[in-house]
Amino acid sequence: MKKQKIIVTGGCGYIGSHTTVALQNAGFDVVILDNLMNSQIDTLDRIAEITGIRPSFERIDCTDVNAMHDVFARHSDAMGVIHFAALKAVGESVAHPLKYYKNNILSLLNTLEMMLEFKIPNIVFSSSATVYGEPDQLPVTEDTPLKPATSPYGQTKIMAENIIRDTVKANPELHAVLLRYFNPIGAHPSGKIGELPIGVPNNLMPYVTQVAAGIREQLNVFGNDYNTPDGFCIRDYIDVNDLADAHVAALEHMKTNDVKVEVYNLGTGRGLSVMEIIKAFEDATGVKLNYTIAARRPGDVPAIWACSDLANEKLGWRAKIPLTETMRTAWQWQKNVSKL
Ligand code: NAD
Ligand code: WQD
Repeated sequence: MKKQKIIVTGGCGYIGSHTTVALQNAGFDVVILDNLMNSQIDTLDRIAEITGIRPSFERIDCTDVNAMHDVFARHSDAMGVIHFAALKAVGESVAHPLKYYKNNILSLLNTLEMMLEFKIPNIVFSSSATVYGEPDQLPVTEDTPLKPATSPYGQTKIMAENIIRDTVKANPELHAVLLRYFNPIGAHPSGKIGELPIGVPNNLMPYVTQVAAGIREQLNVFGNDYNTPDGFCIRDYIDVNDLADAHVAALEHMKTNDVKVEVYNLGTGRGLSVMEIIKAFEDATGVKLNYTIAARRPGDVPAIWACSDLANEKLGWRAKIPLTETMRTAWQWQKNVSKL
């Protein structure tokens, strides 16, 4: 039987590469569109080593409508698009808002336009827990009211969700699943793909592994005086491989259900503090972390974690990978990268 084709924008990136592996393992034919602005071409070789299949690759910028037209014309038999391509550094988006609006919004507009022109019916979009801001109730469900975004990055996710909703409303032949990721961490168990932050990491987990590897001197723990059980910020850290599987589940769901626009939280349902992450890393790897308590980071919400019951009920998906395993894969990946 002919494999079903999926276009994956941003497929060389952190979540996109793991999702490509999951898609190929599930029997999909993947075409990656990436301009490599935050990833490396070698990722394609690593994916091939893991799955035995090298995904098709188109090096293009999704903001370039002519290039997008050319690529979509050649892959108009795709059954769907998973749209990962975006810039994601919150602080950078505050300093360079136009760069973020242009890249993230124009990429999405072009993707939707091409999907309509070439009659590709299904889009899975990478949204974020950032759309909930500082929620009034925990855990957050998909019905928890969204808060105004505190950064241009967050604003692009809220705008993107609205753009997709409006486009589906006007074009009922289009179907959309919006996945709101919580905090993705970890790497593939093969140690061949993982997160590759350029420069000083913004996110906790790559900072932790870089301190453990001796690349950075110490971890600054941002704030210990929050109104949480141990005073540290709480997040819902989800293994990137679990996250990847959710995309396959979303596509399978779209094949057999009359989806218009559906929204799913992707988290574990468990909130962990920064200190619990530090301890979990130390326990899983046996490596002591050098850390210090620092001032709160502006813009951090004290606590957020997901209720992912809806994804379980409708997509048959839930996060399964134990935290210890996630810590080990994150560390293995860091050790492999340090050797590169
Ligand atoms: P990433 O930076 O590792 O991957 C994004 C990929 O998109 C990169 O390979 C980059 O080169 C590519 N890209 C960016 N702009 C492009 C463009 N204009 N044209 C073509 N390619 C382009 O990021 P990630 O962590 O894998 O995130 C994937 C998606 O998930 C993003 O939309 C991000 O906003 C969203 N998200 C990420 C997180 C997280 O913490 N990692 C959390 C919530 C949502
Ligand atoms: C996690 C916790 C920090 C670094 C961000 C985006 C969000 C989403 C995921 C894309 C917080 C603490 C961190 C450090 C620390 N991305 N921390 N020392 O802020 O929850 O979410 O990434 O959509 O939109 O905002 O993730 O990993 O930066 O921080 O103490 O050096 O770790 O204060 O409590 P965050 P993070």
